Amino acid sequence: MATTKEYGLGEFDFPRGWFMIGEAQEATREPKPLRYFGRDLVLYRGESGAAYVCDAYCPHMGAHIARNKTSYIVLDGEQAEGESIRCPFHGWRYGPDGACNHIPYSDFIPKAARLRFYPIIERAGILWLWYDPEEQEPDIPLADFGGHYGAPGWVEWKIDLMGDLAVHGCEITDNMADFGHFVPIHGARDWQYFANEYQDNTVHQYYSSGHRTLTANPEDMLMLDTWYEGPGFLQSEMAGAFDSFIMIANTPVEDGISRSWHGLMVKVHDGSREITDADRANAHAYQEGSRLAFAQDVEIWANKRACINPLAIPKDGPYAKNRIWYSQFFKPRSKVAAIQKRANGLHVTLDRRPGKNAA
Ligand code: FES
Ligand SMILES: [Fe+2]
Repeated sequence: MATTKEYGLGEFDFPRGWFMIGEAQEATREPKPLRYFGRDLVLYRGESGAAYVCDAYCPHMGAHIARNKTSYIVLDGEQAEGESIRCPFHGWRYGPDGACNHIPYSDFIPKAARLRFYPIIERAGILWLWYDPEEQEPDIPLADFGGHYGAPGWVEWKIDLMGDLAVHGCEITDNMADFGHFVPIHGARDWQYFANEYQDNTVHQYYSSGHRTLTANPEDMLMLDTWYEGPGFLQSEMAGAFDSFIMIANTPVEDGISRSWHGLMVKVHDGSREITDADRANAHAYQEGSRLAFAQDVEIWANKRACINPLAIPKDGPYAKNRIWYSQFFKPRSKVAAIQKRANGLHVTLDRRPGKNAA
């Protein structure tokens, strides 16, 4: 394991971006402790149904807001009140704007009584948190996951928790540029095309090859457009035995430790009829194939030492560029445009499409 500073990524230990922090059903009226970004956090749901995440420690005297079972505020079920949350120690209450809005024994409320709340969006069955070391509003919209979630003919993903890995997100995103691992790790064969395109906050990987398991016929091509719109999660449109859509999220728990999830939505028909149990079973079996393919990356990550400087050769793919792209999220916004300019562009590692010269 190595930290952000050891990779030399930037001034901030944790990157700016949208991150998965759990599944939608994990947010309830009962406050729940979370830990991400090296911080203790609290997740709860307001009366309106909106999910909220705030820092865990009350600015009054430092009580953990969600780690209490014996305060009468907790026993009486009075912690989440409207959209606000009440501390179990002395009962100070905080609203989603961060301000303390009630002290049970005082009309005077100090201005400094503020709790940090984080922007949260619930989408595609997942809770997404905007983390920003500069504490600004999101400058990247949250992805729409191809618009497939809940669309006719598509079976929604079930989320696979892959565990907490002693690997920095830097090495997880290295995968975007990592041409050489696709044959041994993912069962690629008969390569046609491998390229990366960097455009500001986005990186794409364009991929086509045969595949050992994910195509219907041995001669078929698996074609993927895989991208990140920030540091926290990958999306991929995959055309194989089924059209499908992959999401792989990685969220820093501590500096150098990442929690990882996988999900796959599958298009089982054209949407002209209901989804049947058989459709669902097919989709889930296909998801399992994709999960197993990703688990092959995870097995490497879970057991490798940190790689601060890859011993890279030209055909490895553009790791160095990938890390420059990734570093933008660890730096102040004022420095981002210059980094994007260094990374932007198309890098073709291999092109054997018909009519092209072999690369
Ligand atoms: S420590 Fe939270 S109200 Fe006093
Ligand atoms: Fe991989």
